[in-house]
Amino acid sequence: MSAARETLGDSGAGKSSLIRQLLMQIENRRQTAVVYDPAREYLLQFYNEERGDVVLNPLDARMPYWNPAEEVLNPLEAEAVAKSLFPDRAGANGNIASSSAIGTVGRMKETVHA
Ligand SMILES: Nc1ncnc2c1ncn2[C@@H]1O[C@H](COP(=O)(O)OP(=O)(O)O)[C@@H](O)[C@H]1O
Ligand SMILES: [Mg+2]
Repeated sequence: MSAARETLGDSGAGKSSLIRQLLMQIENRRQTAVVYDPAREYLLQFYNEERGDVVLNPLDARMPYWNPAEEVLNPLEAEAVAKSLFPDRAGANGNIASSSAIGTVGRMKETVHA
């Protein structure tokens, strides 16, 4: 499927069944799918460990270990990661909380590569 697609419909209209059909076709063709499945309605049917499927859910023991600090290869990247986690936004406490959070996470580089 190369085109963008949107599936709209009332509850019970058949959206989940349609998506399940698509996933079965993708599986039969041995193609790859990235499935956003917060209700875990497809996980049981489609997850296949032997195939190398990966579950990205910190509450699922099958999720591989990942530490955002490992993405950081130099100090500039540490700051970019920190800013993406704590966007600069004026709130009730001004920017003090976010700038101190950015500073703390920005130190990841030193912690990881010490
Ligand atoms: N094409 C279809 N023909 C007949 N029944 C269908 C069809 N698609 C879905 N259904 C049935 O309708 C019900 C709701 O479908 P579902 O996919 O869960 O809807 P949605 O996700 O839109 O809420 C299910 O019982 C399903 O089996
Ligand atoms: Mg549904």
